[in-house]
Amino acid sequence: MTSPHAGAARSYLLNERTAEGYRRAMTSATERVVDRIRRADRPFSGVDPERLAPEIAAVDLERPLHDHAAALDELERVYLRDAVYFHHPRYLAHLNCPVVIPALLGEAVLSAVNSSLDTWDQSAGGTLIERRLIEWTAGRIGFGPAADGVFTSGGTQSNLHALLLAREEAQAIAGAAPSRLRVITSAAGHFSVRKAANLLGLGPDAVVAVETDDERRMRPDALARELGRCRRAGLVVMAVVATAGTTDFGSIDPLPEIADLCAQAGAWLHVDAAYGCGLLVSRRRRHLLDGVERADSVTVDFHKSFFQPVSSSALLVRDGAVLRHAAHHADYLNPRRMAERGIPNQVDKSLQTTRRFDALKLWLTLRVMGPDAVGELFDEVVDRAAASYALAAADPRFEVVTRSPLSTLVFRYLPPDHLPPDHLRHGDPGRALADDANLYAREALAASGEAVVAGTTVDGRHYLKFTLLNPETTLDDVAHVLDLLAGHAQRYVDDLAPLAGHAEAPHVHA
Ligand SMILES: Cc1ncc(COP(=O)(O)O)c(C=O)c1O
Repeated sequence: MTSPHAGAARSYLLNERTAEGYRRAMTSATERVVDRIRRADRPFSGVDPERLAPEIAAVDLERPLHDHAAALDELERVYLRDAVYFHHPRYLAHLNCPVVIPALLGEAVLSAVNSSLDTWDQSAGGTLIERRLIEWTAGRIGFGPAADGVFTSGGTQSNLHALLLAREEAQAIAGAAPSRLRVITSAAGHFSVRKAANLLGLGPDAVVAVETDDERRMRPDALARELGRCRRAGLVVMAVVATAGTTDFGSIDPLPEIADLCAQAGAWLHVDAAYGCGLLVSRRRRHLLDGVERADSVTVDFHKSFFQPVSSSALLVRDGAVLRHAAHHADYLNPRRMAERGIPNQVDKSLQTTRRFDALKLWLTLRVMGPDAVGELFDEVVDRAAASYALAAADPRFEVVTRSPLSTLVFRYLPPDHLPPDHLRHGDPGRALADDANLYAREALAASGEAVVAGTTVDGRHYLKFTLLNPETTLDDVAHVLDLLAGHAQRYVDDLAPLAGHAEAPHVHA
């Protein structure tokens, strides 16, 4: 028997009868976002988890509101009001970009149609569109006609996938036990490389981080030494992971020299261009990626430097045949006979089965704006980062680490030399105080919501970090945020450190 609620429940399904309601609901959701974006005078409300958690805990998930507008009202309180807004020019923290509108059109279409990019019979044209975009990206990298790849959920998955393929290739050639396999990256490489090695069952010593130079690029001489050491120890280097755009410094490892060393050693070269991939469409800086075409595999994160909404990433390989290492034929889904009949699918190439049609966002971006316009946006943020470096480097309140070829700025506030004597009681007091002052400044700024910046450590010391990905961020915004940070740090030095004893971690009371 049909339940009395079945009719009401069915009214929520999107189909020809409910299409008008869908249009209204989507319009009202868009209006909420438009309203928030128009009103946002800061990137963040400064809310802390203690204040927000009870609001979310109080929502009774067993008692639905039965109304889109009521649910959106509630969403204002539990999410939209306090979300972190990446479109705001003073959001300067992580590798999150403002998004372009054509990509949002793609997002709206892809989730409503809900294609799944595993098989032709769940996506049809979606499969071909993704393939065209993979071909296009491979062309930008400079790969030949044998190249292939697949969209993924992000750089972490792309790196894992690359290392899985590299491991299979190494084992097919060298037949080494997993404990004998090594992955060499630089000290500035992304942590997902270590995570991937763990997931792939490699030993705890599998990832070797070689030294970087003053500009935080992998040192080819250190790589050469490590390759030699591994060879003499009977270890198999299954991959060298070069980074084109390190997370903290935006540094780009010397790809041609690394490619030469990999070729000599017979090692797989993976280039993690999760961040640096925006250079693929830059008309002024494409040369910074020279050598990427010699990689065996490349990670690109369109959701970092192509202004795409999360998720949008891809793994590209020079020789598409290696993708077979992740393939599995399931009778119910992708039996061999389908491939033999030439029916295209993407599941044979992917670590995922059901998979979003994220490629549609990039497709609409390229069809509406074109690649040069995307490259122009990325070039603009790189220009702004260079100007910000000059600004901070000339400012005696700050110490800057390196000049990024991309769009980060790692720096820290330096407390003035004339410290009151009671600050000089710890072993290395100036340094400890600087650490605490910078930690405090970052937290205090976030609590004010006026700007959001990131932090990192360099040689064991705490630094602040800007990641500029918004062309709307002006140099005045940067100068203003530097002033705010200096103000908070100075307040810590003058007022709070003497009370707290600066050896303790600072805590902000908003
Ligand atoms: C260089 C680099 N590689 C990989 C990743 C991981 O990418 P995702 O966060 O998309 O998984 C990041 C993230 O910041 C990154 O900076």
